Amino acid sequence: SEEMYLHYHGLIVPKETHSYESLEFAQGFKFEDDDVLAVTYPKSGTIWMQEILPLVLNGGDLTPIHTIPNWERVPWLEEKQLARVVDKLASPRALVSHFPYNLMPPSFCTSKAKVIYVMRNPKDIMVSSYYFHQMAGFLEDPGTFDEFMDKFLEGKVMFGKWTDHMKSWRNSELGDRIMYITYEEMAQVKHFQSEHCSFKSMQNNNMSNFSLIPKVYMDSDKSPFLRKVSIAGDWKNHFSSEQLTRFTSVISKELEGESFSLPWSL
Ligand code: PPS
Repeated sequence: SEEMYLHYHGLIVPKETHSYESLEFAQGFKFEDDDVLAVTYPKSGTIWMQEILPLVLNGGDLTPIHTIPNWERVPWLEEKQLARVVDKLASPRALVSHFPYNLMPPSFCTSKAKVIYVMRNPKDIMVSSYYFHQMAGFLEDPGTFDEFMDKFLEGKVMFGKWTDHMKSWRNSELGDRIMYITYEEMAQVKHFQSEHCSFKSMQNNNMSNFSLIPKVYMDSDKSPFLRKVSIAGDWKNHFSSEQLTRFTSVISKELEGESFSLPWSL
């Protein structure tokens, strides 16, 4: 794992997609007031936002989502790609990030850039992440589902503990600069399942389904990136009752005393 991950402010991030340079580039990134940033803990709806935002910001023009791979179209703030494509981004720019709030660059805090924080039921996140670790050649083998649950709960996965990520953004006090939405809400709202950003159309869009990525990095034969039209609750097919108890008790303990409530029951 030392070979696969970088350590950055107590978090681990994959070396394939991140470098110290890219992380520092993010710290020096100059946010503009009209930038829109979708922030997610990994596996919460990032690539869905990479489809939705260009459609919304360009009046429904399909050209970006049909001609530009998602990682260039709406790049990750912290990934290596950004430096290469930043000058090509049309204004208003859309970006995504997995950073917790405390790693946001100074220019973000002084700008008026807007944030959409997408949340997803952590049990479904963990299931999605488990399959992603099996198919992504640049991530550590997840081991058994039970072993992976321990890693997830201890925060020994990319971008650390889900609870820390949630706390940082839910307590960010960004007022009307931040909008909170859940993956589950997005799955219910017809608008987000329109012809051009539905699970099916993204699955068939080579600019969005990672089929342009060589198999050694992402092997869709092991598990496709767009894995399941999961309305919500695929965790029920994976968690034993013991695992559910363990998961729920760790998460609820870590969120004890927080002023925000979760949009799902644990
Ligand atoms: S990553 O690696 O952090 O960028 O992954 P991320 O994009 O955040 O999350 C991947 C999961 O989102 C699902 N997804 C969708 N679900 C419903 N509708 C649409 N349009 C859609 N697009 C992406 C994707 O299938 C992954 O969830 P799982 O449960 O693994 O299928």
